[in-house]
Amino acid sequence: MPTDHEKRLAELVARFDEWSEPPPRMTHELFPYEQLFSPLQVNSIRLKNRIGMAPLGNISMVDASGRPSEKMIAYLTERARGGAGLITSGLVPVSQGVDPTVLEAKHLSYFPRIDTRATWAGWRTLAESIHAFGAHFFIQLSPGMGRVGSPEVLPKRHRLPVSASWNPNFYVPGIPSRPLSGHALRRIVSQAGQAAADARALLIDGVYLHGHEGYLLEQLANPAFNRRSLGEFRDWQRFPIALVEEIRRRTAPDYPIMYRIDLSLALHATYGERMRTVKGLKKFGSERSVDMTLELIGNLVRAGVDLFDVDLGCYDNWWLPHPPGSMPAGCFLDVAQIVRDWLSEQRILSNRGLPVPVAAVGKLGYPDVAERALREGKCDLVLLGRPLLADPEWPNKTMTGRVSEIVPCIGAQEACLKELTVGGHLQCAVNPRTGFEDVLAREPAPAAVAKRVAVVGAGPAGLNCALTSVRRGHEVVLFERRDRIGGMLVPGSRPHIKFDVANYLAHLEALVKDAPRLTLRLGVAFTPEVLEREGFDAVVVCPGARPIVPQIDGAGLLHVHQAIDVLLDPARLSAADHVVIVGGGPVGCECAHYLAYEHGKQVTVIEMLPHLMRDACQANRGHLLHALERRGVKLFNCTRVESIAPGEVVVVRNVSRTVPDPHVTWAPVLPENIPNPLAKSIREQLVRERLRADAVVLAVGLLPQPEIFDACQRRFSAKQLFSIGDAFQIGRIFEAVKAGYRVACAL
Ligand SMILES: Cc1cc2nc3c(=O)[nH]c(=O)nc-3n(C[C@H](O)[C@H](O)[C@H](O)COP(=O)(O)O)c2cc1C
Ligand code: SF4
Repeated sequence: MPTDHEKRLAELVARFDEWSEPPPRMTHELFPYEQLFSPLQVNSIRLKNRIGMAPLGNISMVDASGRPSEKMIAYLTERARGGAGLITSGLVPVSQGVDPTVLEAKHLSYFPRIDTRATWAGWRTLAESIHAFGAHFFIQLSPGMGRVGSPEVLPKRHRLPVSASWNPNFYVPGIPSRPLSGHALRRIVSQAGQAAADARALLIDGVYLHGHEGYLLEQLANPAFNRRSLGEFRDWQRFPIALVEEIRRRTAPDYPIMYRIDLSLALHATYGERMRTVKGLKKFGSERSVDMTLELIGNLVRAGVDLFDVDLGCYDNWWLPHPPGSMPAGCFLDVAQIVRDWLSEQRILSNRGLPVPVAAVGKLGYPDVAERALREGKCDLVLLGRPLLADPEWPNKTMTGRVSEIVPCIGAQEACLKELTVGGHLQCAVNPRTGFEDVLAREPAPAAVAKRVAVVGAGPAGLNCALTSVRRGHEVVLFERRDRIGGMLVPGSRPHIKFDVANYLAHLEALVKDAPRLTLRLGVAFTPEVLEREGFDAVVVCPGARPIVPQIDGAGLLHVHQAIDVLLDPARLSAADHVVIVGGGPVGCECAHYLAYEHGKQVTVIEMLPHLMRDACQANRGHLLHALERRGVKLFNCTRVESIAPGEVVVVRNVSRTVPDPHVTWAPVLPENIPNPLAKSIREQLVRERLRADAVVLAVGLLPQPEIFDACQRRFSAKQLFSIGDAFQIGRIFEAVKAGYRVACAL
């Protein structure tokens, strides 16, 4: 019988796919934010406010020894300057020599390290720099990756990944992770204690344990992964408790210890029956229940933890710990509240005799949502991850009621989470300075000579270019042939699940409205003659792209529409019941979600490649595919459209058993440059099928529009001429914003 807590968890997880309440906007109804800006005592330290920075991996923000670089110091200091009371680092492994995935060959490291003196000066400088702005600093110590570490240790270094028990590696399940010995685990405990003692000596105000999301700490602390039958660590509570006891022993009774835990992996709540039938999941069937987590939390407090933050999920349902744009705001507030209420009911106090505060995390970048959560007693502290990547000044702007000035995070995770998985460091799609605070000044330098600048196209590239140019003192005319600014942001913000993008667009619109020296010419087609007539010093051409019309018989029929047009005007499909979407990239899948959830259509998505949305951030991809499946949207991969006729689409499908199951969201699609020696090749078994299609929606990609740039170039008349955004090369909001900003800084 599921307990009340399990029932509540199942309802919560189901709601993430079905939610339909009006999404929050950047309002300031609860200003002044008295709760957000009240102090919080955590053991011996007093946080000045209740806004903490959530840990965001500082991968590749360190030098090769693992020492925090100028980049990492400038990046985190910027968030302290922006007003957060608590800054935390991203994960810092303490299992060197035990978990082979935390180090590269030749002891190189892309993770920060604290286990070698070579890195210490970096940590001291970082802590001092954060303190200078009145913020405290916790380091997130991680026992390691375990089964979610890079499988490349096998081909490159002939080592197996490790775990609590024999568990498949997450990325390449054919590679096993071997169980660590009790001796090896005790070594991690001892190294964590040393790291904490070092952290304290290096002026770091507290340590924060990385106990969520199915990393090695959780692999030991969750029966889903810990199926040991021998030794002290067969008790799933033993390793986390030993870790906390050792850290307490090696630091001091008054040194703050924070612990990040998921209330549940929520695998059963996510996958239901599949937990019994799918090979990649059934091994993890005995996940820790909510009541077991609560029991562990109580024991961790007794061992010395002062502060918790709580989320849900793991790599195998990655959209939970990394909630994408499609998840509701404040998605884990109820989770925090369950823990907070339980601690209070049980009258559990910290070893300093204080109530144990509980932090909430997850899409809390809306000041009214965050303040309300504190006022309603759902949590004691609010952690902001991506909202502080998008706008480090979030706390200061919120404190002074300048909420409309906050740059909203758009939730696509392309420049943050995905960037880490493909080898980069943290950046942000809507903040071109994020991750470059060491080299880009806070304010772009005033222009030596004020110029007249024409920006052609008011999509994300053009808007950021125009807004940055006027900040530098240039005079800008912004040409937009449509009657509204935003370019692809306009259709891209229509679906309910894209409310973050709608907020970003509203923010840009407000900036354009108030910008000095910026003239907006809507509904004006720019021609090179305009350029010559008005004598611009610089021209930035970014008119965007046009949708591709595929060479398919019937693509020109009246019931065939472009996805962009459907998003802008869904009434086009009012008479259609069955809709076939051609193209299973993000646009096709978001359009499918929009039509299925918001317009009640029966939708089929056709994709030629083996994977739908293969290049999207895996967390976002997982959630969208999962939600599509739940709504009965049919997903056909390895399928080619042969022809379109009134009422039907003819497709050729590869029905071989070797075709990947398009519904798999519990395993990732590997980046193309990472070889998978165990990957099975796909054989062909083609069948022709006729699908009912009252309407067909095309989402097969975009083509750059270089014509305006080429025409301007042929005139040889603008001293500076640039082609950026989709007009140059089809990209994401990330590339468009960055190009707009960088070009504007160069004018
Ligand atoms: C790029 C990126 C890196 C992250 N790295 C870490 C990490 O190192 N440790 C950790 O516990 N959580 C990490 N997280 C999870 C965040 O701390 C946070 O829980 C999540 O982003 C949800 O909060 P938000 O909506 O405020 O961003 C990371 C998230 C992102 C987007
Ligand atoms: S990259 Fe996207 S998801 Fe990540 S912080 Fe920036 S806006 Fe948010």
